[in-house]
Amino acid sequence: MNQNTVQIEFTINGKKVTTNIPSHVTALHVIREIMGLKGSKEGCGIGECGACTIQVDDKAVNSCLMLGAQLHNRDVMTIEGLSKEKKLHPLQEKFIENHAVQCGFCTPGLLMSTHAFLKENENPDRQEITRAIAGNLCRCTGYQQIITSIEAALQDESCRGGE
Ligand code: FES
Ligand code: FES
Repeated sequence: MNQNTVQIEFTINGKKVTTNIPSHVTALHVIREIMGLKGSKEGCGIGECGACTIQVDDKAVNSCLMLGAQLHNRDVMTIEGLSKEKKLHPLQEKFIENHAVQCGFCTPGLLMSTHAFLKENENPDRQEITRAIAGNLCRCTGYQQIITSIEAALQDESCRGGE
């Protein structure tokens, strides 16, 4: 380890990892380029689009605005951690069923924001859902299919409580 690298230890998608990273890189860079998890996207790189959203200690955050070093000792979930045993999470199924995925660039970030939101809100109304995903921009869908998918997920027991 030289002066410009730091060692971090964190949990990612349930797995503990220890790695040396350049001290100046973002959490998004660590996830995509060092961990090789390409699901989280870089859209704007300045906290405006939400394409890079991950969960850190159960909260949705823009990983482009976080330093990689800040992941130390944290519990991180990326879109790759949402499906289990190669089976899509029910929330992902609802997005597909309701045509909420078009080009798909925004989808991982939207799913991360929604999944974190549903951990704390079991029965949100349409307005609360709209507010919850306001930080995730989608240039394709016009948002209605996304909101409908989230409402459909609320009818599904397995989507509530962020499971
Ligand atoms: S890439 Fe992080 S908010 Fe746009
Ligand atoms: S589906 Fe294309 S940006 Fe949302």
